[in-house]
Amino acid sequence: MKDAPLRVLITGAGGQLGKALIAAAPAGAVVRSVIHAELDIADPAAVAVVFRDLAPQLVLNAAAFTAVDDAQRSPGAAQRTNATGPEVLAAACATAGAWLTHVSTDYVFDGAQSRPYGTGAKPQPLNVYGHTKLAGETAVLEQLAQASTVVRASWLYSAHGGFAARMLALMQSRPQLSVVADQVGVPTSAHGLAQVLWSLSARRAMGLWHWCDSGVASWYDFAVAIAETAVDLKLLPAAPAITPIASADYPTAAARPPYSVLDKRATEKLLGITAPHWRSALRTTLGELAHA
Ligand SMILES: NC(=O)c1ccc[n+]([C@@H]2O[C@H](COP(=O)([O-])OP(=O)(O)OC[C@H]3O[C@@H](n4cnc5c(N)ncnc54)[C@H](OP(=O)(O)O)[C@@H]3O)[C@@H](O)[C@H]2O)c1
Repeated sequence: MKDAPLRVLITGAGGQLGKALIAAAPAGAVVRSVIHAELDIADPAAVAVVFRDLAPQLVLNAAAFTAVDDAQRSPGAAQRTNATGPEVLAAACATAGAWLTHVSTDYVFDGAQSRPYGTGAKPQPLNVYGHTKLAGETAVLEQLAQASTVVRASWLYSAHGGFAARMLALMQSRPQLSVVADQVGVPTSAHGLAQVLWSLSARRAMGLWHWCDSGVASWYDFAVAIAETAVDLKLLPAAPAITPIASADYPTAAARPPYSVLDKRATEKLLGITAPHWRSALRTTLGELAHA
């Protein structure tokens, strides 16, 4: 007998990860994706209506307040989406008997360590965004311990969002850019993360997991690679001059961790995969724009 299709709800579907999750949906899943304007995940009544309509068996939550500096200025709004939202989804999943796969961030750590952060490392967020994301992942893991997957990821980008898309847009108009060189992390393809989220969900991998691409880079290294790759793919006529600067020379509302590398080996082992090096994933991602 053929298995009945899995009913899946994707929240925050208008964001870069939401779009990647829709694109990576496996055959055999009936996907309903909702953008922010269609569903506010922090509104229990609205969530109840969507759950009644779809009766999802799996919820992939890609909704978040991701503007790190804005979160510092509007902590209430960040808390509502990043902490209350996952709590509301977890409660709805508990009632419906659905699995919740939720995404968190490397910014739960302070970056004082100099080796990759495992899932057992103590979170110590430096900013409001990190605090609210930590509250969200804790709510999911506590309320839905037996029926949730929480994946922390780092430095997400896609052809349509995140740092790579922002840099490419700036590089079209500016001959010179300055980029922070003393924050180190791992640029991670939203498309690759989406595949990992589908795979972990299919296995009902309970608890906390880490995911990022391989290698390490500063934002400056990432920007230089974006420029080089874009020129190579003829997305830019010439690379702009890029100057490395210190975080202190580029003051922001929110402090950021100087070292933001996640230990993803347990996820690789469970899924039997090796994360691609961030440079090759970047080339694949920008290649989408070149061939569009
Ligand atoms: N971006 C990164 O570098 C990064 C790094 C590590 C982890 N993450 C995590 O990865 C996940 C996906 O991030 P992303 O990069 O795809 O973010 P994104 O592009 O900013 O997308 C987030 C989406 O959530 C929506 N949203 C905001 N508040 C909402 C609410 N209350 N209800 C429903 N939808 C809401 C946003 O809609 P509006 O824009 O219309 O408000 C947006 O479409 C998040 O959990 C994020 O914390 C991101």
